[in-house]
Amino acid sequence: MLGDFRPSSPVRLRALRLELRSKAHVEAQRWGARGQKISFCQRIYIVELAAVTETEARKADHLKICLDENVQCNEVTHGLNRYRFTHTCLPEIDFQDIRLTTDFLGKSLGAPLLISSMTGGTELARVINQRLATVAQHYQIAMGVGSQRVAVENPDLAKTFSVRSQAPDILLLANVGAVQLNYGYGLAECQRMVDLLEADALILHINPLQECVQTRGDTNFRGLLPKIAQLCRDLPVPVIAKEVGNGIAAPIATKLIEAGVAAIDVAGAGGTSWAKVESERATDARQRRLGQTFADWGLPTADCITAIRSVNPQIPLIASGGLRNGLEVAKAIALGADLAGLAWPFLQAAHDSEESLYELVDVLIAEISTVLFCTGQTTLSDLKAANCLLLEPINPAM
Ligand SMILES: Cc1cc2nc3c(=O)[nH]c(=O)nc-3n(C[C@H](O)[C@H](O)[C@H](O)COP(=O)(O)O)c2cc1C
Repeated sequence: MLGDFRPSSPVRLRALRLELRSKAHVEAQRWGARGQKISFCQRIYIVELAAVTETEARKADHLKICLDENVQCNEVTHGLNRYRFTHTCLPEIDFQDIRLTTDFLGKSLGAPLLISSMTGGTELARVINQRLATVAQHYQIAMGVGSQRVAVENPDLAKTFSVRSQAPDILLLANVGAVQLNYGYGLAECQRMVDLLEADALILHINPLQECVQTRGDTNFRGLLPKIAQLCRDLPVPVIAKEVGNGIAAPIATKLIEAGVAAIDVAGAGGTSWAKVESERATDARQRRLGQTFADWGLPTADCITAIRSVNPQIPLIASGGLRNGLEVAKAIALGADLAGLAWPFLQAAHDSEESLYELVDVLIAEISTVLFCTGQTTLSDLKAANCLLLEPINPAM
């Protein structure tokens, strides 16, 4: 079966390619059914299915599943829906004066937005990363890439991540799974990833549930904290700790901060569910069921932000997990986050076209600005200080 395949010999590799080719044929027929047009990105994906190794196939599968299947949480929400801003009918400010600029880890940003870590390692990923970087540079927003493990294992794939020439000024974040520190990765590999990307910081993603559901996932998380602490001491760029959609609780955040991480990305529950994504990929019934059972597992994004802020008012904090519009971004900022990350919406737009990405960032900025205007605030710091976000139910006397 595809997911169980380790192409350790030429014979096995050939068999894998044959299986991928037949899968590509089915995909091509499905996409091209009833004469609908196959997009540029879909064509790249079909070609890749026919040609790649297992690691690249996994990356291609992640993109395809996130684009085509319903892998969003069903029951758990990000929790921001429980909050409402107090409307101000007399803002006493000029909309033109509103400023969304902010600083994060020493870099200036045009808006408090991060394109969350997603991809790399395939030709389709290269196209998507290029589009994302072009738009990030235009709006001066931050961007992460997907796990660069494939590029360390196969340096030929480094170019599928390289976006610095497209985006010379942005806050650019390298990425690898923290658990890899237990599987042979150390300072040298992390430094290589930072160098390959010319990154400003390294994200260590912490994803125990995903590894549990993934067929042959890396599940030895023992003793990671001291290794994270060592890396934070030795790596010359800041290290950011991030979940992948199940959230970081305040006590764990405190341990990570004590270990030396420079920022936290809560990546809470309520958006893309990696249990669901890995369930879709699973080739055996056991893993498939495991992913479905834990589809809605995790800590809602809003709860992570408020809990971490209550124990640490200073740590640079990224809210992500399920954010889908600028109103939700503004709520996350008002709750105490410094940046807001979105993955799935950026993936959908990037897959569509560069034009769609410009439209997405433009409307996100308009939505955040509208919140500032209708709460009478000119800057993001004003919004944080204004105490104008209330937990429902709203007091009608306000
Ligand atoms: C296609 C895809 C690939 C992803 N790959 C990574 C990854 O390699 N590293 C990582 O830290 N997070 C990865 N993520 C997780 C996102 O960064 C994010 O934490 C998660 O999707 C929740 O955000 P969302 O609800 O806005 O999608 C990926 C997400 C998507 C959609």
